[in-house]
Amino acid sequence: MTEILTPRLLLRRWQDDDLAAMAEINADPLVMQFIGDGNPRDLEQTAESIEHWEEEWDEEGFGLFAVELLGSGELIGFAGLSVPEFLPEVLPAVEIGWRLGRQFWGQGYASEAAHAVLEFALEDRGLDRVISIIRLGNDASENVAHKLGMELDHETTHPVSGFPLRVHAIDLTEYA
Ligand SMILES: CC(C)(COP(=O)(O)OP(=O)(O)OC[C@H]1O[C@@H](n2cnc3c(N)ncnc32)[C@H](O)[C@@H]1OP(=O)(O)O)[C@@H](O)C(=O)NCCC(=O)NCCS
Repeated sequence: MTEILTPRLLLRRWQDDDLAAMAEINADPLVMQFIGDGNPRDLEQTAESIEHWEEEWDEEGFGLFAVELLGSGELIGFAGLSVPEFLPEVLPAVEIGWRLGRQFWGQGYASEAAHAVLEFALEDRGLDRVISIIRLGNDASENVAHKLGMELDHETTHPVSGFPLRVHAIDLTEYA
């Protein structure tokens, strides 16, 4: 069982009863505006996503953690690792990512979770480089990447939607 405790958060694998809370987050247009095609996702799509994330955990030994607020036990979103299949030009690569419900923004939770995930990636899983692919204009997400010490590697476009993307990266040597 892979779990990480931070001062305010529990990062853990997904449970069946996470679906409703994660679906609510994915249904929020503001949360989803810079993700994929920019459209919110419904319950069924969220269920498929969680299934896919759990498969990635089983296949890769890493994945997206469900992020739970200690104390209340609420699911506030995810932070974790994935293989960015949607952008073949960067492969092989492992991406660090984050998505929280709107009511949990502006409290440092994303950065707290992301720091724990980066340490997990580089120290526990032994990866030597982690990237983050962020759509141009998603300043809140870039802020998290920069606080992790990630730097702009290159700019590109999404192969399907054509949206401008910025690829940030950090190497184990820079992290250490
Ligand atoms: C990207 C996202 C996770 C960032 O969330 P966030 O709440 O802005 O990020 P953080 O948790 O790091 O919070 C940062 C802000 O919280 C505030 N804050 C309050 N208490 C804090 C604390 N104890 N520690 C740190 N920051 C704190 C600060 O104002 C800080 O801003 P600053 O770094 O400019 O000083 C969020 O905007 C989101 O879910 N977006 C939609 C999904 C998305 O786009 N994901 C990324 C796709 S690439």
